[in-house]
Amino acid sequence: MRIPMVAGNWKMYKVRAEAEAFVQDLRAQITHLQDVEVVICPPYTLLESVIRAVQGSPFQVGAQNVYWEEQGAFTGEVAPSMLYDLGCRYVICGHSERRQYFGETDETVNRRLKAALGVGLIPIFCLGETLEERETGVTFQVCERQLINGLHGLTGDQITPIVVAYEPVWAIGTGRNATPQDAQEVISYLRGRISEKYSSAVGEQVRILYGGSVKPENIQALMAEPDLDGVLVGGASLEAASFARIIQYG
Ligand code: PGA
Repeated sequence: MRIPMVAGNWKMYKVRAEAEAFVQDLRAQITHLQDVEVVICPPYTLLESVIRAVQGSPFQVGAQNVYWEEQGAFTGEVAPSMLYDLGCRYVICGHSERRQYFGETDETVNRRLKAALGVGLIPIFCLGETLEERETGVTFQVCERQLINGLHGLTGDQITPIVVAYEPVWAIGTGRNATPQDAQEVISYLRGRISEKYSSAVGEQVRILYGGSVKPENIQALMAEPDLDGVLVGGASLEAASFARIIQYG
């Protein structure tokens, strides 16, 4: 049984007072969760405040990135154990904005995934095609390449806890979401590749989310797709009211 997940990616938004008010507001709107896991991913600077604010609530906290070395002279980077020690249990790896603006590659994503898993963090492993790739008909190849290279060197047991997030780049922050059928098609393809490469048991267990312009208005239709196990939400996760509606599937 794959437990659905709703994860909010705050990107580079909010300061402390806003983050604390958000959590307070969300807690007032959602007192208990049934059959859905909720993860809030604030910027590094807010992790500690948000971890404190969610205590005693059903919400979990994740970071938006992590470095692959355990410690050392790597100015500006944050190690997996530092996040775990703080109380983070999830971490986004390979978000398309990191690939696009910060030189992230399949290889560096793979290193981050391994390092995160090594300390017990659950990676939310993002992948997805660009508009140009979709238009030239290479969506499946691109997503498969990102999936296989990102998971390189990991065993079936190691990848089972990973949460994959299929996020077509053309749908992120554009208001142009993939149709539920588009999302289902790619997600079921990815699940098939995981089953083929590891085992059908692993394929059945790995959660695969959709991300890209998810809103209260489209959550229900997305969640109705059989292979889609939840969503990674950017813009609509910044307001407690819209995030709460998404958590309750509209
Ligand atoms: P969006 O972002 O919901 O604002 O499109 C999704 C994401 O980047 O994870």
